[in-house]
Amino acid sequence: MASESKAGPMRVLVTGGSGLLGKAIEHVVQQQGGKLEGEEWIFLSSKDADLVDVGQTRAVFEKYRPTHVVHLAAKVGGLYQHMRENLHFLRDNIKMNDNVLQTAHEMGVSKVVSCLSSCIFPDKTTYPIDETMIHNGPPHDSNFGYSHAKRMIDVQNRAYFQQYGHRYTAVIPTNVFGPFDNFNIENGHVLSALINKTYKAKKEGTPVTVCGSGAPRRQFVYSLDVGRLIIWVLREYEEIDPIILSVGGEDEISIKEAVDFIAEALDFKGNMHFDTTLSDGQMKKTANNAKLRRYLPDFTFTPLKEAIKMTCDWFVDNPDIART
Ligand SMILES: NC(=O)c1ccc[n+]([C@@H]2O[C@H](COP(=O)([O-])OP(=O)(O)OC[C@H]3O[C@@H](n4cnc5c(N)ncnc54)[C@H](OP(=O)(O)O)[C@@H]3O)[C@@H](O)[C@H]2O)c1
Repeated sequence: MASESKAGPMRVLVTGGSGLLGKAIEHVVQQQGGKLEGEEWIFLSSKDADLVDVGQTRAVFEKYRPTHVVHLAAKVGGLYQHMRENLHFLRDNIKMNDNVLQTAHEMGVSKVVSCLSSCIFPDKTTYPIDETMIHNGPPHDSNFGYSHAKRMIDVQNRAYFQQYGHRYTAVIPTNVFGPFDNFNIENGHVLSALINKTYKAKKEGTPVTVCGSGAPRRQFVYSLDVGRLIIWVLREYEEIDPIILSVGGEDEISIKEAVDFIAEALDFKGNMHFDTTLSDGQMKKTANNAKLRRYLPDFTFTPLKEAIKMTCDWFVDNPDIART
């Protein structure tokens, strides 16, 4: 990756700075030498400003006067919460995204990188799916509110470019995990919920029950890798069209393989039970990372086994701050 910034000194405001990806970017910037001379990075949580509120959004932008914005903040939830509250996910995210993008425009922010998600892609589609297919059909019914709000970021980015020439863009990570993830067994992301479940089973001497057969395959990406890639996008990526940030289809692994890595990392020697009466969800939903590979053919993702081990170690060492 190029280490020189094309953009010059930046004052970067990161919304959602207290979440999984925000903390990963903070780590890369503050502890892995990711910050360049003269740069300033500000990491916001909802305590600094409720971005659903336009007044609070403007006030926080006035306070920090950013030149660049990484917009990660979003109302996110588990499957059942999404199904119950599609309207809240739609309205809160539309408001948050519009407040951030329009305030950035009004205050002359030169670049905004927002975050979409691979779960907003059309429900009925062909795989591997790529960046050109986001709007080709309705999203899955369970989270249509969240998905449509996210899709509108892409529409809005194109409109800001058409009317004002702004280079506001978006990234599409696949299944991110790492320190500071949500490890809640019911509502957390699959890999982190399994880490919590396995650790609990080890402490209590009980077996682990995994929902489904373990056969579905997913592209898991370590949050620190995505953090490094988002910083590259902020500095180097000039397109308005979004870019998928993920390992390739060849690095997709099954839930069973992920569970084996977790068991090894946590030294769990008990029984694993796969409850095949529970739904597997989609077997595969491979995202194509060819665009990323065209730009960064040599980018190295952290080997999954190593990344899972580091995440398990972080979870075990940080019971007070891990979200469970
Ligand atoms: N994790 C994944 O696998 C994944 C995959 C693809 C895309 N993404 C996207 O990546 C982005 C970051 O995800 P994440 O997993 O890091 O999320 P996360 O850990 O759930 O963090 C969400 C962040 O948004 C902030 N936030 C929520 N509501 C807010 C509000 N009303 N005002 C201001 N801030 C608010 C939270 O602040 P508090 O801490 O104060 O609540 C937190 O910093 C999201 O846009 C998500 O859609 C995530």
